[in-house]
Amino acid sequence: MRAIFDTHVHYDDEAFDADRDELLAALPSQGVEKIVDVGASLASSKKALELARRYPHVYCALGIHPEEARDLDEDCIAWLRSSLKEEKCVALGEIGLDYHWQDVPPDVQKEVFICQLALAKEAEKPIIVHSREAAADTASILRAHHDGRGVIHCFSYSKEMALEFAEMGYYIGIGGVLTYKNARKLVEAAEALPMERIVLETDGPYLSPEPLRGKRNVSPNIAYVISRLAQIKGLAEEEVREQAWQNAHRLYELS
Ligand code: NI
Repeated sequence: MRAIFDTHVHYDDEAFDADRDELLAALPSQGVEKIVDVGASLASSKKALELARRYPHVYCALGIHPEEARDLDEDCIAWLRSSLKEEKCVALGEIGLDYHWQDVPPDVQKEVFICQLALAKEAEKPIIVHSREAAADTASILRAHHDGRGVIHCFSYSKEMALEFAEMGYYIGIGGVLTYKNARKLVEAAEALPMERIVLETDGPYLSPEPLRGKRNVSPNIAYVISRLAQIKGLAEEEVREQAWQNAHRLYELS
């Protein structure tokens, strides 16, 4: 059976403080051979980098999430610029726009997003995009400032938007939400997307799939997403595993 590649997870989160090392060390024996720990603030990006240095099967992404946009000062930019060169750092992220809470005004979010797109270009690394309730602005900024190398993670928009992002070159990140009873929109997007553009993720500790919804999410739970996706696409689970494994390697440019 082909192993799982968790393309987006936050093992740096305090939800894993009690058992992080045991949990990470056990993943390969549970069929999870590669993961990308994704930073969201300067502090979590530093932790993600440390984890990637320590474990052969852990890679990291470094970046400032829109809700943490105020972290992005000159020192932070300098740190990102030098750390993005590390071999285990496979992407810049998560970055993007989140208009749900708006603790950080949209104009500030846009500025911080565009600045990091320039850093990704300079570092020649793909990006991980977080986009919530901001589909139109995300698409127009990416069209104007980016080249299509990356993933729209935890995809939450329509199938039309999914196809538009895929057309631009991006992968679409799908996780536990696909298994929820009210996931009609995401199911439609998954149906419409070519299998070659889908990557799988937990976004752990959040968004555990059914039947584990509400519990802390860990990478082996992607098996539930694989099973649901296979059903939706009319494919064997093994085909979904194989394709998702290959897509994740292409996304992060790993062999
Ligand atoms: Ni995330």
